[in-house]
Formats: sequence, structure tokens, C-alpha cells
Amino acid sequence: MIVLGIESSCDETGIALYDTEKGLLSHALYSQIALHAEYGGVVPELASRDHIRRIVPLLRNAFEKAALKPADIDAIAHTQGPGLAGALLVGSSVAAGLGFALGKPLISVHHLEGHLLSPLLAKQPPTFPFVALLVSGGHTQLMKVSGVGQYELLGETLDDTAGEAFDKSAKLLGLPYPGGPEISKLAEQGNPDVFQLPRPMLHSKDLNFSFSGLKTAVLTTVNKQVQPMDGNIRADIARGFVDAIVEVLTAKCAKALRQTRLRQLVVAGGVGANKQLRAALDKMTSKRRCRVFYPEIEFCTDNGAMIAFAGAMRLKANPDCANPAYGFTVRPRWPMEGLTAA
Ligand code: KG4
Ligand code: ZN
Repeated sequence: MIVLGIESSCDETGIALYDTEKGLLSHALYSQIALHAEYGGVVPELASRDHIRRIVPLLRNAFEKAALKPADIDAIAHTQGPGLAGALLVGSSVAAGLGFALGKPLISVHHLEGHLLSPLLAKQPPTFPFVALLVSGGHTQLMKVSGVGQYELLGETLDDTAGEAFDKSAKLLGLPYPGGPEISKLAEQGNPDVFQLPRPMLHSKDLNFSFSGLKTAVLTTVNKQVQPMDGNIRADIARGFVDAIVEVLTAKCAKALRQTRLRQLVVAGGVGANKQLRAALDKMTSKRRCRVFYPEIEFCTDNGAMIAFAGAMRLKANPDCANPAYGFTVRPRWPMEGLTAA
């Protein structure tokens, strides 16, 4: 079975073709980062308009790369939510239009399920069950994943997400959007002993997170410096921030592995591309004789491959999951709890 995947929930337009026999056939991606950078964050209206501009050329490109015609596919998976309503509507309406024209059914995919299952696209994938750390701009959650559609929430952020903490702290240091990769790079040159920032909820008994205090600590630290700050001080603050957030994320993953008695940890979402986080999780898991799995860097941030893959897994688990009618809706707020394989 060949599934076309369409992702347009935020600021990346992603298209992919996934074959349940042969694996990923092709994928095409356009990131709007440059478009939104001058505003310091995603502007929803601009995002929707740009998805409209990019989506058909990307579809053509994905089909060309796979040497397939639209009629060769079996189903179309689209991100139904959560995300920006206008942006979701672009991908979902293209999916419904194409499905109607080709007579192919639609599969509505939860964006976070796409991220959660994306490490299974790797050559050496994890096996169910595993603990998943989902760290993106929109979410920070620890889940127990027992199978497709079998997700148990273990803990989540009570305020800012890890991605927001990275982006907002980077902005306070004068770094461009999206700040995650930038602050991570700057931190590499920083001295770890200059600024000790708080590790919120590090010792709490639960598996929840809280990052808004850490961002405020970055703000307070920045405000105490002589302005304009020199490059070394900015790097030292970046280092203090990255060390704090990485320590909290790593400690909660260790606790989740201990609590569930599972030995596999999967990391998904944009922040999962972070080098310092990967190094700390590698160390923690090898010490505990556990294994950690990351999606390929290109599949950490939003992409069409994870949506095509999640759609294909859903179709495999339940051949009746595809919607043969072409009415569609988007779900900008869509909790993951209650999601089943059906
Ligand atoms: O998963 P994603 O592409 O989009 C959402 O679904 O939110 O995640 C985007 C987030 C942004 O906050 C971005 O700054 C962060 O992932 N990010 C990083 C890195 N690459 C992306 N954060 C830290 N280090 C990185 N290397
Ligand atoms: Zn995402």
C-alpha cells in the first residue's frame, strides 16, 4: 500500500510517499522559517498563504522523485490537528480535493502521533512498548507507547513547552527565530560555571515539567548585565540555560524509564534535534543499560514523512480507518488522550 502524507500544521509544508512494503519512497519539504524570522515567530495568516503557494509544487516534486503518478497511491494521510487552523485547512483541503479527484480515501492523522512514530522510520527502529519524550514547539510530554493508537500520558509541561523555552530564551539573547538551534550553537562556546540557572521541578515526584520560570531566570540574568552584553556573556547565559533544560529533560526521562520499567526511550519533536540533549540522553541511557532512539535529524522537525508513515500504520492496524467521504474538518486543539487505533 502506498500512502501520500501531507503536513501543514505550522510553518513547514511537507509531502511524502510511504510504501508499507518498501518504506519511504520520497519526501519533499518547504520550511517557512525565513518568512517568519523577521516577525520573531510564526504569523498564522502568512503561514496559510505560503502553504497554498508551496503545496502543489511539492506534491509534484514528491511524485517525480518516487517516479509515481497520483493514481498509484492507495490513500492520503493529512494532518488534521493540532496546529494553526488556517494552515491545517490548506493541507486538509488539498488532501480532500485530491482524494475526491482520484477516488482515494483520506486518513486523518494527529500531528503528535506523527512525531511519536517517526523514530520507527529509521533503519533500526525501536519495538513497542517504549517511553517517548515528545519535545516540540507546541508540546512537551512523556508518553508510554504500547502500539499504534496505544498512548498513555505519563507527564507534560504545566506551562511553556521546551521549544518555547528555547525560542523565548534565545530571543532574550538577541538571537533570530527559531532560537532553539541558535542558542544551542552559542552555548557550545559558553562557560558552564558562570551562570547556574534553576532546574524547575527537577525533584518533583511526578513526570511533569515547568519551563516558564527558567525563561524568567534568563530574563532576570540578562537584565543584570551591562548592556549591550558582550559575546562571551551571551554564550555563558546560553550555556547556563541549555545545561538547565537538558538536565531536567534527562532526569525526567530517567524517572519515566524507571517507573515504567521499560528499556527503550524514543525522542521526537524539533527539540529532539538538540545536540546537548542527545549527548545527555545517550549518557543516561547507556548508564542504565537502556537504548535511546532518535528520528533522523530531518524527521525531527515537522515533515510529511511522519504523517505518511502514521497514516500507513493506522491503515495497517485498521483498514476501515480511512474516510471514503470527502467532507473534512480540522482540529486545531486535539488532545492526544483518547486517541485509539480505530
Ligand atoms: O516539532 P517542531 O518542528 O514543530 C512543532 O510541532 O512545534 O519543533 C519546533 C521547535 C522550535 O521551538 C525550535 O526552536 C526547536 O523545535 N528546535 C530546537 C532545535 N531544532 C529545532 N531546539 C533546540 N535545539 C535544536 N537543535
Ligand atoms: Zn511538530
